[in-house]
Amino acid sequence: MKTLDIRVLGDPILRTETTPVAEVTGELRQLIDDMFTTMYAAEGIGLAAPQVGRTERLAVVDVEGAKYTLINPVIVEREGSARAEEGCLSIPEVFGEVERAHRVTIRALDGDGKPFELTAADLLARCIQHEVDHLHGKLFVDYLSILKRRSALNQWEKQKSNYPGLIRKVVPGEHPKKRSAEHTTTAAGEV
Ligand code: NI
Repeated sequence: MKTLDIRVLGDPILRTETTPVAEVTGELRQLIDDMFTTMYAAEGIGLAAPQVGRTERLAVVDVEGAKYTLINPVIVEREGSARAEEGCLSIPEVFGEVERAHRVTIRALDGDGKPFELTAADLLARCIQHEVDHLHGKLFVDYLSILKRRSALNQWEKQKSNYPGLIRKVVPGEHPKKRSAEHTTTAAGEV
């Protein structure tokens, strides 16, 4: 298992439509393992393949122990709505309030390629919607009002030079205390 580099805002892969996974190969299993390792090392709660430079329709999530591999996920039902703050591992230090469905039902394949259906609410539902968006080239900042988006992107411009080549190197345990505290107070965490 290894830690993968995370692509940050500006890398065109984050805007690229993914390709459905046809088969769970050994290589894909390796990628899934590496994505979990990377997500935990970056202290995120979700990670989608384009964020590590890949085009497979694949994401991983772990929201308070609810751990899922989502291959070819499709949202089949949405219910209610909720606003909460979100962040993204590909747009470090930038946060914004996004309205999402409160509850969603998805169909996907698990890490063994077995179909499953899952109904999730609250943070897990939010995280899943954020990851499914990633698989279609969509980012949380796209939902912000023009003014809030401008301010978020200005915020990002100040951060951008910290990520040469639009790559975020993930070093486990590197996160300063302050950021960990932010993570626990931020409703959605970084996904
Ligand atoms: Ni994200």
